[in-house]
Amino acid sequence: MAQGVLWILLGLLLWSDPGTGLRDGSPDVTTADIGANTPDATKGCPDVQASLPDAKAKSPPTMVDSLLAVTLAGNLGLTFLRGSQTQSHPDLGTEGCWDQLSAPRTFTLLDPKASLLTMAFLNGALDGVILGDYLSRTPEPRPSLSHLLSQYYGAGVARDPGFRSNFRRQNGAALTSASILAQQVWGTLVLLQRLEPVHLQLQCMSQEQLAQVAANATKEFTEAFLGCPAIHPRCRWGAAPYRGRPKLLQLPLGFLYVHHTYVPAPPCTDFTRCAANMRSMQRYHQDTQGWGDIGYSFVVGSDGYVYEGRGWHWVGAHTLGHNSRGFGVAIVGNYTAALPTEAALRTVRDTLPSCAVRAGLLRPDYALLGHRQLVRTDCPGDALFDLLRTWPHFTATVKPRPARSVSKRSRREPPPRTLPATDLQ
Ligand SMILES: *[C@@H]1O[C@H](CO)[C@@H](O)[C@H](O)[C@H]1NC(C)=O
Ligand SMILES: *[C@@H]1O[C@H](CO)[C@@H](O)[C@H](O)[C@H]1NC(C)=O
Repeated sequence: MAQGVLWILLGLLLWSDPGTGLRDGSPDVTTADIGANTPDATKGCPDVQASLPDAKAKSPPTMVDSLLAVTLAGNLGLTFLRGSQTQSHPDLGTEGCWDQLSAPRTFTLLDPKASLLTMAFLNGALDGVILGDYLSRTPEPRPSLSHLLSQYYGAGVARDPGFRSNFRRQNGAALTSASILAQQVWGTLVLLQRLEPVHLQLQCMSQEQLAQVAANATKEFTEAFLGCPAIHPRCRWGAAPYRGRPKLLQLPLGFLYVHHTYVPAPPCTDFTRCAANMRSMQRYHQDTQGWGDIGYSFVVGSDGYVYEGRGWHWVGAHTLGHNSRGFGVAIVGNYTAALPTEAALRTVRDTLPSCAVRAGLLRPDYALLGHRQLVRTDCPGDALFDLLRTWPHFTATVKPRPARSVSKRSRREPPPRTLPATDLQ
């Protein structure tokens, strides 16, 4: 978090001093230059520095270019450079949690071996770009920084609920293009190579190699961060521990089952409400239903976030008889007569499944179904189900699985033909 704030401030600093050397110093590199300056890797270190691209000033860098260069490009480039040299794939966006929800003091990363590109860093860097760009376009008198930050991290800038940190990925994606980011990352690596001999790993790298690193880093950032939903991990919403022993899923799965929560009926539009909803559903599933955990794999709020339930790796309790074959994703609300927000729909229809496919968790030919297609229930509500039928991957007919390993209890259940032992919740 503190790290994130630093990057926001850097972004704002740059905005407040347009004459800063960082802006003038960053080489104006384009993809055309990358081709034109084909380096000779066999020449060795000294010549690498001699063949820098000139600052040819074809089109002057925009504010967003400079903001990307100062907040994001350096760490993104250096982390992927290290990855390319150690043949490892840098992990992007490692999450973490505070020790307690009220009066937090210690922040612990979920993976202590995480790269520099933690979620806190990426969020802070992106916020710096978004807010810096906003300020550069806002006429005088500009809002005070503290006012702007409290709106951005609160109900929304200028009362626009879409312009708050919750939607930073969508807003950031609208602001940046992959080719511009790749140029900035490449330019920053070239600049660091020239200016800071301390970066030993930059020595003996040709510009072409650096361009390749920049392209890889940009692709990963764009596809695995900007294009994926923000998921609050369990520790963030105050999940109680699993009761009993969870069962591992065998990935990738072939199904995505869509639910509405029905209760709670109102969509949740901020973190406080969504997190409280998660805790109350978990209590109901554990205490009343006697399940090990909240049943859903993921729950989608109307606040721009997805909340981790059982997650990608553990068998859920959402679609009786089919829990080990698919992920169960619920949108908080009652969608009998009304529809979820477009942002929540987009998450379930597009970003969550496409990112799961990219990560090898969901099969590319996955089938999307409404809960009611497999279990006698109204879920996910008439309105939402009617819409689901128009979505890509929606599958109208479900082939029953070959009747094997039918347990006693499963035969009493109406629609599903077969029940693996893990699916009885
Ligand atoms: C870039 O990514 C490709 C494909 O994942 C990989 O083969 C290559 O080694 C990477 N290059 C660098 C410089 O990281
Ligand atoms: C859900 O919405 C339907 C249609 O508006 C309504 O009849 C029903 O009472 C609602 N259920 C809950 C739990 O709010």
